[in-house]
Amino acid sequence: MASFQHDVLIIGAGLAGMRAALAAQGEGADIGIISKVHPVRSHSNAAQGGINAALEATDSWEEHAFDTIKGSDYLADQDSVEVLCQEAGAELIALENMGVIFNRDDQGKLGTRRFGGAKKARTYFVGDITGQAILHVMYEQMMKAQESGEPQMKLYEEWFVTSLISDGERCLGATVLDMRTGEIHTVLAKGTIMATGGFGRVYEPSTNALICTGDGMSMAWRIGAPLMDMEMVQHHPTTLKGSGVLITEGARGEGAYLLNSDGDRFMKTYAPNAMELASRDVVSRAEQTEINEGRGIDGCVLLDMRHLDEKLIHERLWQIRELGIDLAGVDVIKEPIPIKPGCHYAMGGIKTDILGQTLVPGLYAAGEVACVSVHGGNRLGANSLLDTVIFGRRAGVAAAEAGRKIDMPSAPASTIENEQQKLQALLDRPANGEKIAQIRWDLGISMDKNVAVFRDAEGLNEQQEEIKKLKARYETVPIEDKGKVFNTDLIFGLELGYLLDCAEAIVLGAITRTESRGAQYRLDYPERNDAEWLKHILLTYSPEGIRLDYQPVTITQWEPKERTY
Ligand code: FUM
Repeated sequence: MASFQHDVLIIGAGLAGMRAALAAQGEGADIGIISKVHPVRSHSNAAQGGINAALEATDSWEEHAFDTIKGSDYLADQDSVEVLCQEAGAELIALENMGVIFNRDDQGKLGTRRFGGAKKARTYFVGDITGQAILHVMYEQMMKAQESGEPQMKLYEEWFVTSLISDGERCLGATVLDMRTGEIHTVLAKGTIMATGGFGRVYEPSTNALICTGDGMSMAWRIGAPLMDMEMVQHHPTTLKGSGVLITEGARGEGAYLLNSDGDRFMKTYAPNAMELASRDVVSRAEQTEINEGRGIDGCVLLDMRHLDEKLIHERLWQIRELGIDLAGVDVIKEPIPIKPGCHYAMGGIKTDILGQTLVPGLYAAGEVACVSVHGGNRLGANSLLDTVIFGRRAGVAAAEAGRKIDMPSAPASTIENEQQKLQALLDRPANGEKIAQIRWDLGISMDKNVAVFRDAEGLNEQQEEIKKLKARYETVPIEDKGKVFNTDLIFGLELGYLLDCAEAIVLGAITRTESRGAQYRLDYPERNDAEWLKHILLTYSPEGIRLDYQPVTITQWEPKERTY
């Protein structure tokens, strides 16, 4: 066991984390960056369709902002959206300068595709592997920055954060398990940035990687950082039958149709103007309605690309073609592919300001783990990669600047020992026939049943009771592997605790918000109710219970209107 210290500690090495690291080092801060997986295995890797920016002369940041706000069902904070959209162009060019080879048209100009909820084509892309392309370039930049050595940027790879350290007022850093040795260490920092991504595996199935277990939200919540708008969970309209793997919205951006069992392009009933490129919440509800009313096929509807140019599919949608062949036995060039709405993204998260600061001094957050809030009730496709790089950079700069004014914190000598005892207590639990994987599965399936595209009080209350039972089972579930080296059983056990915290917050938010807005569609409250609910829900944890607070939405120049498509 050892104690390390850095000016800025970043937890998570996906796009938000690495962007924060580069920015903070640029400000002269000494950086520690912890990741439970190798950085290029981070979930940013899975983003397919692109990244938005209003770069064309015929477009403007205001139009991008308006589309984002309308897409959010007016729950996004407009000052945050202004930052996102104003800074998008420069960040996109910065990514290109770093080495991201975005698609270009025949004239050599950067090419775009149109994404859902956007009036203009402003999504820049690398085939259907945009996240992977940016992530690899960002990792190269990080390796270069590490090699420069000045100031230090140290990567703690395959280290797993077990808790944040707090003195009751400030965040002081984290306790961390080195997965290779099983040893616990502390990493202290003047500023700690959470960049751990979302909680998508609260649901089964999900487009999210198995590592998306809400670690950052849970740990921040446990030291008193409020979570905001947790009920706003995006269900992506095109996730593959069975596995739930993402089939990019880029397919619809390139012209793919959605068909029901009658072969009808059913979106004409729900969004006659935008059709397949309405906002995700609208398209997912339309699909679910078709399925519920008997016009689905085996619990799915169809995504049809047969009319698209084969060359276009080979050039721009090759990954989803391979996924279709490998995972569903369907070649999209020849057949429509079965898809359905599936859990994809957390619009809610740790409440931050536009510098990434949470309400706990010394703790910052950026990317999907954070709620700044630029996505409100429903995120537009291709605004998530943008969010990671814009607010990752901002959090990195802010944490580095703040760190210049304070001393390195210290933590009580007992910190490591206490954490070790906590983990040992988990390892010492007697066998009782229960399995971590079973509890996790039961959580995911029940969330999918009760808290998905359509919700009502009955299902939400049932889920709240179910989570209490799952938590009780979690209290005694044994860790079967007692070893120290790469104890994945222990890691899965800790992750399950994080997932359960997130699920509890999602359900409480969904019960509390008695209206329909964005991804929260309440069958028992089907209207948006601006008079009562044009506000954020904040949940603050304490051992005595969860406190509910509300905060008005920041409106700058776009007054809420009815959404039509
Ligand atoms: O459909 C997609 O390619 C997903 C993109 C996103 O969620 O931003």
